[in-house]
Amino acid sequence: MLLLTALVLPLLSTASTVQAFSPKSFHLGSTTAIDGLQAYRENRITLNENNPVLTFDYGSEVGGFPFVEVQAPSSAVQVQLKYSEPYDGLELPQGDGPWLYVNGLMNSFRIETFNITKSGKAQSFFIQGGFRWQSITLLGNTSLTISKVGVQPSVDIKDPESLPGSFSTSEDMYQDVWNLGARAVQAACVDAGSQPSTWEVSDQGALIRGQYPAVSALGNGFGNYTLDFSTKISTGGTGWRVAGGANGGYGPYFVLTSNRSGLISSNITSLPQNSLIAGYGFSLINQAILPSAPPQTYSISNMTIEDGKWYSISTAINSTGYAISVDGQQIAFIENAPFVSYISGSWGSGSLTDGTFGFGPYLNQEAFFKDVKVTAQNGSVLYTNSLTSTDILEEFGIASNKYSVCLDGAKRDREIWIGDFAHTSRIIASSSGRFDYIQSMIGFEFDWQYPPGPAHGLVPIQAYMGAGKQYREAYYPSEFGETDYQFFFLLVLTDYFALSDDKALLSKNWDGIKLLVQTLVDRYYDPASGLMASPDASWFTAQGSQNATAPTALFLVTLNQLINVATALDESQTASSWTKMATRLGNAINTLLWNDDLGAYSLSLTQPNDSAILATAFTIRAGIASPARVASSVARLSDVFLKIGYKDNSAASDASSTQLSPNTQGFLFESLFIAHLQYNVPAEAVLPAIRNLSEVFWPKMVTQNEYFTGASWEYLYQDGSPGIGIFTSLGHPWGGAATYVFSNYILGVRPEWNNAMGEYEWVFDPAWDVAEGLGLEWAKGKMPLSSGGYIEAEWRVSGKAGKTKKPSMTATVVGNKHVKINIKKRS
Ligand SMILES: *[C@@H]1O[C@H](CO)[C@@H](O)[C@H](O)[C@H]1NC(C)=O
Ligand SMILES: *[C@@H]1O[C@H](CO)[C@@H](O)[C@H](O)[C@H]1NC(C)=O
Ligand SMILES: *[C@@H]1O[C@H](CO)[C@@H](O)[C@H](O)[C@H]1NC(C)=O
Ligand SMILES: *[C@@H]1O[C@H](CO)[C@@H](O)[C@H](O)[C@H]1NC(C)=O
Ligand SMILES: *[C@@H]1O[C@H](CO)[C@@H](O)[C@H](O)[C@H]1NC(C)=O
Ligand SMILES: *[C@@H]1O[C@H](CO)[C@@H](O)[C@H](O)[C@H]1NC(C)=O
Ligand SMILES: *[C@@H]1O[C@H](CO)[C@@H](O)[C@H](O)[C@H]1NC(C)=O
Ligand SMILES: *[C@@H]1O[C@H](CO)[C@@H](O)[C@H](O)[C@H]1NC(C)=O
Ligand SMILES: *[C@@H]1O[C@H](CO)[C@@H](O)[C@H](O)[C@H]1NC(C)=O
Ligand SMILES: *[C@@H]1O[C@H](CO)[C@@H](O)[C@H](O)[C@H]1NC(C)=O
Ligand SMILES: *[C@@H]1O[C@H](CO)[C@@H](O)[C@H](O)[C@H]1NC(C)=O
Repeated sequence: MLLLTALVLPLLSTASTVQAFSPKSFHLGSTTAIDGLQAYRENRITLNENNPVLTFDYGSEVGGFPFVEVQAPSSAVQVQLKYSEPYDGLELPQGDGPWLYVNGLMNSFRIETFNITKSGKAQSFFIQGGFRWQSITLLGNTSLTISKVGVQPSVDIKDPESLPGSFSTSEDMYQDVWNLGARAVQAACVDAGSQPSTWEVSDQGALIRGQYPAVSALGNGFGNYTLDFSTKISTGGTGWRVAGGANGGYGPYFVLTSNRSGLISSNITSLPQNSLIAGYGFSLINQAILPSAPPQTYSISNMTIEDGKWYSISTAINSTGYAISVDGQQIAFIENAPFVSYISGSWGSGSLTDGTFGFGPYLNQEAFFKDVKVTAQNGSVLYTNSLTSTDILEEFGIASNKYSVCLDGAKRDREIWIGDFAHTSRIIASSSGRFDYIQSMIGFEFDWQYPPGPAHGLVPIQAYMGAGKQYREAYYPSEFGETDYQFFFLLVLTDYFALSDDKALLSKNWDGIKLLVQTLVDRYYDPASGLMASPDASWFTAQGSQNATAPTALFLVTLNQLINVATALDESQTASSWTKMATRLGNAINTLLWNDDLGAYSLSLTQPNDSAILATAFTIRAGIASPARVASSVARLSDVFLKIGYKDNSAASDASSTQLSPNTQGFLFESLFIAHLQYNVPAEAVLPAIRNLSEVFWPKMVTQNEYFTGASWEYLYQDGSPGIGIFTSLGHPWGGAATYVFSNYILGVRPEWNNAMGEYEWVFDPAWDVAEGLGLEWAKGKMPLSSGGYIEAEWRVSGKAGKTKKPSMTATVVGNKHVKINIKKRS
């Protein structure tokens, strides 16, 4: 009999030797609590009927395998563990989850039940990717003494003092804000092999605990088929999917429950015993922005489904529904008519009859699966698999991660969203110094770069860390919804080159780089407008609008940086062809997309009267805007300021539901410094926006204890709360740009292209007038170097900051003989 508390410890070379994350404080009572917690020092705590609820606060974001150590209970005792980033998740039945979007090599649920029968350590089989708060609730009429609680790390998170990078200044809040990005990148970047598969495969088949069903990469072209497999329930029930989408599996989902009462926490209202529950969409419940049809429940009156017995299940798809049989007896026919309004072409297959299949029981359940067969309507067998070989893990996208990668968020989506990595990689370079993640991500992207075929030349933008390269064709086009994420990858590459001068890595991938650029030009450059536009493209940086400023200017930014790479690598022919392209793009933007009445670049040709913060940000960084245009578009930023921050564009509503993105504002933030330092826009012009971002927007992630995780967030509402409510990732590196902006421009240490030398050099060149305008008296910090060591720098203005006072500046390169720093004295 397998327990949910399987004590199988993952084989982690790094994590198993590192110290567990330990709660900072706790509270024992009848409910969870945010106030009145006491310091936690591995206290012995007894849960009983009077005090059944423990609250643990880890102080900031942690991630890994939660465990409890207990003293022998007199009989089996069940406790429910719950996890959340914000405190309020502890007060919700499902914590701040579940995460039923993709299978991210983690627990899809934020609650789990341990059935504890003996002394010692009970550890979750699953990773909880990121949380600050945890509760443990005693179920039933018993008591339990807990001697220790903690989390076996699945990520390497160091305290800010122990990082190779650092930043501090005379105003403490700046350092608190800097810490956000530093923690987010550590929580969201995972070492190769550190995230075990969520399936356990043996000669008995695949043992699958309750989780978001993983789907086969081989079934996308299938339709109107019959899926047969054998299953043996070990706890509660079993679950599977047919006609699922290629991107995560959205579609019909079936759960078959056994007649046993199961765990106390099982919800027998929604999952009655001995029943078939049929849902459609992501899962059986609606969650935030991820819809599912109301589930239909069929009680199986004439057959008993027992734990521990093998059954053969058959699901036959036809045009009106799904016929489900157990051991050859039809137990239900599920009409598909109620699902019609939930058909989704982007999340699902776009059809009720077609798409892939997958497996995954629901919460509190656990079952074995084997002997899968898919038969077409004409009787031909399309697929067979005994599910007894670990080869299946890559097919289902749930193999332990081969590469060290950075995910978009610690708790969700846990995909390799390459666009997010534009900020992540810069934050890493300023804080954790884990350049190996950047190198590994670049290696991963080129390893997967698509061979001749419909996606030829493109790189993945939202790969699962558990997927196999040999199946990559299955993810095109469903996982290519943000065309400009390809541009962000070029930005990552070239930003990395500026930081590292790593000619070897860039040379090694030079053919891949040229192929990617050529592919992007061929597919997405529209000679009619001279801008990036194509019916086949969808632009994240312009909310889907075509012929838009931001994606075109972003591509131009990457070309400018690629030209530097080509120059450094003596690839002059390529450099000159990219220069021509860059010039064309810059001219087209300046001719077609500047709107004098607006005083800013237009969002796009079709939205000429709307401004957009990324249009402003990327035209500045691309170096195509005249100082007058820069000054004007910066001045117009107040048009899109909503209480605490900037909405993406002027077309977005001012309603309280509008999400403010620290991702887009991060690009804006840096561009304000570039405008001042490189285009001579006076500090007075950029200071209001810089002050709003530094002192109003980012501090919202610091000052609210109920939401604080010590890490940067995905979105905010204008009242300062998390921007998709309970669903928001509060461990999201894309929201942490302030970290590198402070290091690069307030401390003032950054790589800069030196035209005369034809290479990047490190400069120590703070934005003095801005720092002065912000009232800062000193700053100090360290910038890690990719080739080892770090740059340590400090500046100080004596007495009151003022232009007349010459600041003191010191900078040294420590532990690296090859890097020099160019100290640019204040003129
Ligand atoms: C529950 O607790 C009460 C007293 O608190 C006790 O009388 C009763 O027997 C317990 N019930 C069970 C099922 O253990
Ligand atoms: C399945 O049947 C539907 C009609 O019910 C049809 O539209 C679809 O193309 C068929 N799918 C396949 C893969 O043959
Ligand atoms: C489940 O069904 C089996 C077979 O009828 C029976 O022996 C067993 O007692 C049932 N279990 C429960 C919890 O009802
Ligand atoms: C809990 O563990 C005990 C002892 O192994 C076992 O008898 C019981 O069936 C388990 N309960 C559940 C719901 O799995
Ligand atoms: C149990 O499920 C029912 C029906 O879906 C739902 O209304 C109820 O809130 C659930 N209870 C818990 C504790 O989640
Ligand atoms: C689909 O299958 C069900 C159950 O076998 C059957 O009743 C129904 O007539 C079939 N529909 C079509 C269009 O064949
Ligand atoms: C059980 O009930 C289902 C649904 O009413 C029916 O289709 C099936 O034939 C029945 N099976 C047996 C073995 O009686
Ligand atoms: C049977 O159907 C499958 C899938 O639709 C198709 O690939 C195959 O060619 C068909 N076989 C015959 C003999 O028609
Ligand atoms: C982009 O603009 C050009 C010129 O106005 C137009 O021909 C083209 O259709 C537009 N592209 C898209 C995808 O809308
Ligand atoms: C933009 O504004 C100008 C001037 O007010 C107006 O003539 C034009 O129709 C507007 N364009 C769109 C697409 O709204
Ligand atoms: C900065 O914030 C203030 C509100 O505190 C707002 O009035 C102003 O427009 C903002 N400035 C800019 C340039 O966005």
